[in-house]
Amino acid sequence: MPVITNIEDLKRIYERRVPRMFYDYAESGSWTEQTFRENSSDFDLIRLRQRVAVDMSGRSTASQMIGQDVTMPVALAPVGLTGMQHADGEMKAAKAAHDFGVPFTLSTMSINSIEDVAEYTGQPFWFQLYTMKDEDYIRRLIQRAKDARCSALVITLDLQILGQRHKDLKNGLSAPPKLTPKTIANLATKWRWGIGMLGAKRREFGNIVGHVHGISDASSLGAWTAEQFDPTLDWGKIGKLMEQWGGKVILKGILDAEDARMAAKLGADAIVVSNHGGRQLDGALSSIRVLPEILDAVGGDTEVFLDSGIRSGQDVLKALALGAKGTMIGRAFVYGLGAMGQAGVTTALEVIRKELDTTMALCGERKVTDLGRHNLLVPEDFGGRWQG
Ligand code: GLV
Repeated sequence: MPVITNIEDLKRIYERRVPRMFYDYAESGSWTEQTFRENSSDFDLIRLRQRVAVDMSGRSTASQMIGQDVTMPVALAPVGLTGMQHADGEMKAAKAAHDFGVPFTLSTMSINSIEDVAEYTGQPFWFQLYTMKDEDYIRRLIQRAKDARCSALVITLDLQILGQRHKDLKNGLSAPPKLTPKTIANLATKWRWGIGMLGAKRREFGNIVGHVHGISDASSLGAWTAEQFDPTLDWGKIGKLMEQWGGKVILKGILDAEDARMAAKLGADAIVVSNHGGRQLDGALSSIRVLPEILDAVGGDTEVFLDSGIRSGQDVLKALALGAKGTMIGRAFVYGLGAMGQAGVTTALEVIRKELDTTMALCGERKVTDLGRHNLLVPEDFGGRWQG
């Protein structure tokens, strides 16, 4: 096994071990992938201010997200089909996150069900909700998340319809994969993945298959979103869902200051500045670029998290120093999971924590909670000069 020193190392192993259609699913953005690329490259535009002769003993990356203690403010984002990246992927990732002391978010479009994850970890986790036309199903889904003691509901706002990712269409993405000559040829080279999958608890969408009806192809993410997702979701409906839930709510997928103000007005405990990892509106700005404007727009009662583009502890530090209270990683933990299962998720978290800690020290800070704009060199036109 090669020495893993960064997230890119995990990605290389992940690419070798996981069937192409699931690698492509994780690694794609929509259409031209401009937003997907800029999510990462815009982090590089921000530079760090080195400070010296500062006592750097006794450092801590600990913080809080929505009032929960975290060993570092990096939650695992909801990622669809995680249980296709590795057998029992959601169960394993949730356990790794819990053992590390960071929140795990289970996607509605997961392979393992809410109940599988609750039983396996015995710990509260966050549940991400996609709203569907079948209101009775949504009521039951919310109740299932309550029964599983989920500690926050993460409502995704930027995916009422699915952005087009070319590769998923060309690959015929499905869970489980359909056996065509092309997929069989690829699966034949992924024996480790295949053996794991033979023993997996589930191989289809665990939260919805058997709970929702009237789908032309229950294995297809495209069919679920097109046929079942609720295109009428608006602020009124979001308010009702928040009431139904009655607990902590995180509104995810905010990229505009006006929307951020609405979310804060509704009483969200946190918002996630996110463009869904560049998978929805291609041509939208990167999350890190809009973060300062959104922070200015929301009051102090709503915490602001950021996802999309984070591949290192330095990226985490930049988001925190700009003012985010927390961050989320998606692909960065999926690479670890696909490469090495639960241990790989732990490795991804360790890599990020080490990078965050070392960078913090070299910037002359001892606590992540003390990071601020004084640690950064941000280009004057970072927010962009846009008309209108
Ligand atoms: C679903 O959440 C996706 O981005 O594919």
